[in-house]
Amino acid sequence: MQNNLAIIKIRVEKLRQQIEEARYAYHVLDKNLINEGALDSLKNELFQLEQQYPQLITADSPTQRVAGQVSEKFAKVVHRQPMISLYDAFSEEDMLSWQERNHNFLGQKLEVDYYAELKLDGLAISLRYERGQLIQGATRGDGQVGEDVTTNIRTINSIPLRLRQPTDQELRAIGLSKAEIDKLRIILDNDFLEIRGEAVMTKKNLADINQRYQSLGKPLLANVRNAVAGSIRQLDPRITAERRLDFYAYDLLIADWPRGQVIAKRHQADRLANLLGFKTLPQNQVCANLAVVFEFYRQMEQQRSVLPFEIDGTVVKYDDLRLWNQLGVVGKAPRYMMAYKFSALQATTIVEDVVWQVGRTGVLTPAAVLKPVKVGGVTIARSTLHNFNEIKRLGLLIGDTVILERAGDVIPKIVEVLPKLRSGQEKEITPPRYCPFCNGLVKKVTDQVAYYCPNKNCYAVNLRRLRHWASKGAADWDGFGPKIIEQLVEQGLVENIADFYSLTIDQLKILPGLGEKSASNLVDAIKQKKTLAIDRFIYALGIRQIGQESATTIADFLASRLKLTSGEHNLLPDRLAVAAGALTLEDWQNLPDIGPKVAQSLTEWFSDPINLKLINLLTAQGVRLSYSQPLVGQQPLAGRSFVLTGSLNSLTRSQAEATIKQAGGHITSQVSRQTDYVVAGRDPGSKLAKAKQLGIKIINEEELLTLLKRS
Ligand code: IVH
Repeated sequence: MQNNLAIIKIRVEKLRQQIEEARYAYHVLDKNLINEGALDSLKNELFQLEQQYPQLITADSPTQRVAGQVSEKFAKVVHRQPMISLYDAFSEEDMLSWQERNHNFLGQKLEVDYYAELKLDGLAISLRYERGQLIQGATRGDGQVGEDVTTNIRTINSIPLRLRQPTDQELRAIGLSKAEIDKLRIILDNDFLEIRGEAVMTKKNLADINQRYQSLGKPLLANVRNAVAGSIRQLDPRITAERRLDFYAYDLLIADWPRGQVIAKRHQADRLANLLGFKTLPQNQVCANLAVVFEFYRQMEQQRSVLPFEIDGTVVKYDDLRLWNQLGVVGKAPRYMMAYKFSALQATTIVEDVVWQVGRTGVLTPAAVLKPVKVGGVTIARSTLHNFNEIKRLGLLIGDTVILERAGDVIPKIVEVLPKLRSGQEKEITPPRYCPFCNGLVKKVTDQVAYYCPNKNCYAVNLRRLRHWASKGAADWDGFGPKIIEQLVEQGLVENIADFYSLTIDQLKILPGLGEKSASNLVDAIKQKKTLAIDRFIYALGIRQIGQESATTIADFLASRLKLTSGEHNLLPDRLAVAAGALTLEDWQNLPDIGPKVAQSLTEWFSDPINLKLINLLTAQGVRLSYSQPLVGQQPLAGRSFVLTGSLNSLTRSQAEATIKQAGGHITSQVSRQTDYVVAGRDPGSKLAKAKQLGIKIINEEELLTLLKRS
């Protein structure tokens, strides 16, 4: 335990160093060292560790401070009311516990409206208007003291230099009474007003600027947030103007009045900001409860990529502004609002292992097995590393903390290793020596990157096996065409049959051509057919020489060996494999239509450890087997095994065989311990002697006919 704590302490310290370094670069040097989402992941990991081990919290931990530091370049502005920060939520559970905390704090369950807003990704700006005139624009800085950036923000067209004068009619329309309108006018004419909001740059604008900069050979702007900060926190207003920034208001402070006076609701404040000449977000919405908020969040996450500006989540606020005063601030942020953030497009996680997969040309592709992490709204547990050179380029070791990125709607990939977070326990990744599928020796062409399996059939055989499993006579999954199966193999999501059963909607929906709906259909198709009839299962295994018909014979035989009754649906594949594995070549050959070659193939299959491991995995994935005898009532010989010897009186040999089979019995050619009856006619052969020797029941034709009639 002590040892464990020591390891965690080292991790915590390394996380702090990395976070501080990135923050200093970003806030003071205006340099982006590490993407915000990835940084958030690290902060979140640190926060979680500190929650778990509070003894490790220190006053200088990045979790204990408000972001930002004031640059020496600008005059300082002391905020009349601090520009505090927000607490982050990442899940519905987080939001529900936020609500519960507030109910506990107030001592009552509130059933009030929320105002759900988009969380714009840009730079927070506070604008001060005196007697309707813009007199100062400031950044947030450390929340208490910001930077005076008035000259620069005056170039932003969506910021009015003088407040618009709304008409009485307009103010009435947003719900103000005559008395309130009069009060407001006095302020507008004689006092001050502060508008807070986000300065932003559209994605298109950023792309245009970067295109121009590229042709001029100038360094590119990393992202909109950086571009906005860089445009405002610099000394030449012409640059700010050239960047064509936008501004959206999200808060309104009317002189030194407490919140909720004149303007009672947050949604009204948005309308008033419009009337005063500001843009607000048209998407913002009053929500009657958190369920509606969650729906808003989901819709916005979906629209995210088509919105003109970047958003990184929603901000959920109580609509009633008087509640804001009651709830107040705790620590670094208010109780009355919460940032409910989208899962970032970059996140950090740990590489737990690297496995190799055989590709279509025999090339072995490495894939990182990851500690599952949410990135861009999908949970990722594996990521392809392309080839060994990529591992070297990244400098990746097993155990490393890495940055995973989801760019656009594609499958996330590892873009960077964070070597400063290493503990010293990381392991080097070595090229593969044996093919993971066929166990053959791996080769490498001297002047090429790739390692490959020289067994030409290796990939094809595996692919065929996977396709066969999904096919009609086998597991019979709708939608699993050859193309999808190939993609699953290429992406490292499916290596063997058992892997199909752990596929998730998240993994499937990001494959080219698949969306949420078809992904969910595919997962359902697998789930619904997790129980297979024994004959399908045996056929699906793809054992050489075993077709559907022989699979049925084998299924019936194994079912009788296992004494299964019709209607069984919970047989573990493991049990079936044990029963099959106990059979000798001779036993198999005794089954009708099973010759020496097929028997050979069966014994080999059921004694190969690779196959048995596969069956173990299927069992572990919850695959179960069912058995039902067709027409039970009319099959008095179901599961019984017969050997015929000598000639009968009323039936020919083939008539006798057909009748026994029809009644559910099996005919085998040799007497063994598994034989139930030996039917002895005239001039029996050595089989009769063998039956006597083994103590098998011997019957004559008459007795056989009696058995057949019994139903
Ligand atoms: S409310 C208490 N509303 O998010 C200060 N902030 O992570 C919060 N932001 O610094 C102000 N969109 O710059 C608020 N609709 C919105 C927002 C928003 C973006 C920014 C804001 C703040 C940061 C906190």
